[in-house]
Amino acid sequence: MAQELRRSFPPRHKQGVTIFFSGLSGAGKSTIANVLLIKFLEVGGRPVTLLDGDLVRKHLSSELGFSKQHRDINIRRIGYVASEITKNRGIAICAPIAPYDVTRKEVRAMIEPLGGFVMVYLSTPVEICERRDRKGLYAKARAGILKDFTGISDPYEEPKDADIVINTAEVTPEEAAQAIMLHMEREGFIGVNNNL
Ligand code: ADX
Repeated sequence: MAQELRRSFPPRHKQGVTIFFSGLSGAGKSTIANVLLIKFLEVGGRPVTLLDGDLVRKHLSSELGFSKQHRDINIRRIGYVASEITKNRGIAICAPIAPYDVTRKEVRAMIEPLGGFVMVYLSTPVEICERRDRKGLYAKARAGILKDFTGISDPYEEPKDADIVINTAEVTPEEAAQAIMLHMEREGFIGVNNNL
């Protein structure tokens, strides 16, 4: 009951919200998250924070590696920061791989009582991500230089509970960000007529 009240009042567009991406390296998380960041800044009203996977690893999780345990610590950190932003009525955009279902669910459970939580699964197949190989990491993973690489030599558990699923083999980053914005409007996370 208390949670129901919290969900409907204040209205969603006045609450905080976390947009949580999950998907393989090279699926386009950072690119789409950056387009989304600009769109939210244009709408205005609430502060927007982007917690990008690579930047979080540089600034917040620099001591961590890519074991399951370390990935979970990394995702819980991101989740905690996003929960604080959401509680204080900001918009948090998180863009890690987040390969494990249980850990993603933990983050959702931590944030939902405080505001909105929208999971965006970038379902782009590994073959496409590998063909792109923007950072040259798939080649290193295939050569055995990089161990435990997600999608090649480490697991990725596909989300069954994503609010939005986008295959970036089929759409541009702009179209993907637009689809997410439309979802946010439809669900009441953005006020009509930019009425924040
Ligand atoms: S997560 O698993 O903990 O969610 P995170 O998003 O922070 O991963 O970091 C992934 C980024 O780290 C990738 O985009 C890639 O640039 C880099 N990286 C380096 N080693 C690995 C690895 N073994 N598996 C996946 N990504 C790696």
